[in-house]
Amino acid sequence: MVTSTLPKEGKTTLAYNNAKSWHEVGENVLLLDGDMRKSRIKEYLNMETNLGLTHVLQGKGRVTDAIMEDPATGLQILLAGEPTLESTALLEKGRFVALLEELKRSYDRIVVDTPTYGAIADATIIAGSCDGVVLVVEEDRTKIEDAAKVIDQLGEIRAELIGVVLTKATLPENLNMQASYYNL
Ligand SMILES: Nc1ncnc2c1ncn2[C@@H]1O[C@H](COP(=O)(O)OP(=O)(O)OP(=O)(O)O)[C@@H](O)[C@H]1O
Ligand SMILES: [Mg+2]
Repeated sequence: MVTSTLPKEGKTTLAYNNAKSWHEVGENVLLLDGDMRKSRIKEYLNMETNLGLTHVLQGKGRVTDAIMEDPATGLQILLAGEPTLESTALLEKGRFVALLEELKRSYDRIVVDTPTYGAIADATIIAGSCDGVVLVVEEDRTKIEDAAKVIDQLGEIRAELIGVVLTKATLPENLNMQASYYNL
């Protein structure tokens, strides 16, 4: 799963791009939108359905019917669905754990996009069912003490931090990517 300490640090962009890359190299990948309060993936991808995690967790439909294909890439996506303020309660019910276990049997890799860690419990609950957590930090914005706190909290629930990704970084002016590539 992908999370971060603040809104707009680039979680969804990273989750989508990584899922898309794994899909492109032939993995059987699912992008799961776990931001049930204010998901933007549907709008980002111009998808037209209200089906998604919310109604599956509400017991209103089957997950297999709710999984969509990104029209641009063919990537399989379980959208968040109808926005709900009850997301924490829905995730807590245990149905999410069972759902993820079921999905893990069908996919090589599941990339879960989540909201900011800590403000609401959703990302913490999701972390408890994921095999690893990627923490997004934004250059000149994320506070190191906030990132350290999330890393401590992940340790407390025995979630495995598998990486930290720096977003919106400015490359040094003297770094010529093309030259470095050809000089390898
Ligand atoms: N690595 C990046 N470099 C530059 N801009 C980026 C990067 N990642 C994301 N952005 C831009 O930052 C904005 C927020 O991105 P995104 O929606 O992925 O963040 P988020 O952390 O998922 O936000 P939210 O907390 O609302 O879910 C978007 O305008 C996106 O295009
Ligand atoms: Mg997001």
